[in-house]
Amino acid sequence: MVTIGMSASTRWDDHAEWRGSVQKAELPGGHQVWVIAGYDDVAAMLADPRLSLDKRHSGTGYTGFALPPALDRNLLNMDGDEHGRIRRLAAPAFSRRSADGLRAAVTRIAGVVFASLDEKTSGPVDLIEHLCAPMPALVIGEMLGVSGALLPRLRDAAMAMFTFDPTSKESAARLVTAVGWLTTTFTELVLAKRAEPGDDLISGWVRARDGEGALSEDELVSLAFLLMMAGLENTTYLCGNVIAELLLADGAEQAVSAWPIQRSELIERADPLPFAIRRFSTVDVVIGDTTIPKGDTVLLSIFGADSDPARAGRPSLMFGRGPHYCLGAQATDLIIDAVVPEFFTRYPKAQLAIPATDLEYRASWRSHGLTTLPVLLA
Ligand code: HEM
Repeated sequence: MVTIGMSASTRWDDHAEWRGSVQKAELPGGHQVWVIAGYDDVAAMLADPRLSLDKRHSGTGYTGFALPPALDRNLLNMDGDEHGRIRRLAAPAFSRRSADGLRAAVTRIAGVVFASLDEKTSGPVDLIEHLCAPMPALVIGEMLGVSGALLPRLRDAAMAMFTFDPTSKESAARLVTAVGWLTTTFTELVLAKRAEPGDDLISGWVRARDGEGALSEDELVSLAFLLMMAGLENTTYLCGNVIAELLLADGAEQAVSAWPIQRSELIERADPLPFAIRRFSTVDVVIGDTTIPKGDTVLLSIFGADSDPARAGRPSLMFGRGPHYCLGAQATDLIIDAVVPEFFTRYPKAQLAIPATDLEYRASWRSHGLTTLPVLLA
């Protein structure tokens, strides 16, 4: 049996080793899962309705973050018509056409974030804190109507969730505090939008709930929570991983000039999400020689699939595939394109402030992101 640990140092190699047959694995805390890591199987299973994202199909007591209904009734815990109803409500704002409209906002926000970074040229600056986290927080926050002032608490809460280790009492306590804060914050945010609507997505969803009964209050709060957290967390660590890789590579000039050609490959390699969202088999599912019994937990390895030689030029699965395809893929592209070439244009002499070997990934099986990215800008 494979053990999936919290350490991140050899992550891509581990996932590559799991290709071939379906693997039985154990998560921190002892929950047993099946891991699928070959491109063809992962691509097929991402869109296979026999695998459900709804925890109610778990036959082995999977609890995940043990979220209350106000956070748990989100798209990543639903299938079929229920999922489709809420996704249709959220999707237009994240469509390709809307992303074109978003470009101006991303550029404006990048201007503000870089202006504040310009003031930090005298000593080491943590790019995760001062560039990679504020960018998505401010962009997605503006779309949703979530204040940038919440960023530090949102980051703490995301950290508690993504580094949650059920074998550690302190980690479990941090998660309980984070979930409590998130529940109160997003519930109150929805109430505030109801009292004083704005020109933002959450206000629009409140109108859809109150006017047309399009979704329940828990579904509304959960939708706001999911978009804010998914947007902040994944894009922050993708940005950090891309910049770190370029700082270690060919120099600023090359980073800027080669960006249009290199970007897809760099972004894939910097993917912070080793696995897709856990799924539960709703029937016995046979893959190769293995039967995954009904009710078991399945992890689809994006790292294994994307680095599979059998992929042979087919599309990356880093944003998923099928009904749960990432709603934020376009927004992520816009943010990364606005940040990475601009960073190396502004700070052509930027270099890591610590030896590369001291760069540390967060202890997490869910995410592959740097704890900090200390850099000397000038
Ligand atoms: C590095 C950036 C990102 C990566 C790698 C990423 C990856 C993914 C993946 C793999 C899925 C599919 C999950 C599955 O089927 O198991 C997903 C879904 C989702 N992502 Fe992203 N994401 C990123 C950024 C964002 C952003 C910026 C947002 C919000 C603005 C976002 C919102 C969502 C939502 C709402 C879903 C669920 C869609 C559904 O269930 O219908 N993501 N993402």
